[in-house]
Amino acid sequence: MNVLVGYASAHGSTAEMAEFVGRLLHAYDLNVTVAPLNDVQDCSSYDLFVIGSAIHAGMWLQEMSLFLERCAEALTSHPTHLFITCIRVLEPDGVEHSLEYYVHQPTLEKLGIDNIGVFAGKLDVNDIDWNERWLLASAYDGTESSKHVNHDYRDWYAIATWVHQIAKTMNLKPNFAQEEHVE
Ligand SMILES: Cc1cc2nc3c(=O)[nH]c(=O)nc-3n(C[C@H](O)[C@H](O)[C@H](O)COP(=O)(O)O)c2cc1C
Repeated sequence: MNVLVGYASAHGSTAEMAEFVGRLLHAYDLNVTVAPLNDVQDCSSYDLFVIGSAIHAGMWLQEMSLFLERCAEALTSHPTHLFITCIRVLEPDGVEHSLEYYVHQPTLEKLGIDNIGVFAGKLDVNDIDWNERWLLASAYDGTESSKHVNHDYRDWYAIATWVHQIAKTMNLKPNFAQEEHVE
């Protein structure tokens, strides 16, 4: 089974999460490609999609919108799971808020995507330029952004749980025959 783990990432933390997701899925004996969404023009060879984007200024990145449009046909006809990474999720009601405001529900409904993982990301204001600092300060719709500016909040265990749940719903099993023997 060919799997695309595609990502849209401005500063690399979502890319690393996608890499991690790809490694976990590989353990289930899947043929996994991890790639930036912008690099995937032809979606026809994939049987399963796991796609993720960072949230900037209250929405997923443009690469995600373009990908959803470009690959709509493949996404509607194959299992597709989506995740977003943000900092608003760290606040009270963060998951509900993110699902209500950070994803475009009509698009997801049209594509039949109903499994959406919401994960905390990584933010270091020293890594972002003044334009982005301004954007973050002016567009952030929570109340506690100042508390969350310099830290890696990624919860690898939560991400792994989400991925294993996908594997479970698809009844995927690891293939030990292909693993190298470990002494
Ligand atoms: C310019 C900018 C705008 C952001 N806007 C939001 C936002 O509106 N809501 C939010 O929860 N997080 C926001 N964040 C936090 C990012 O979603 C978080 O840092 C994410 O992990 C970044 O992923 P990346 O490293 O793959 O780009 C913003 C970050 C930046 C740099």
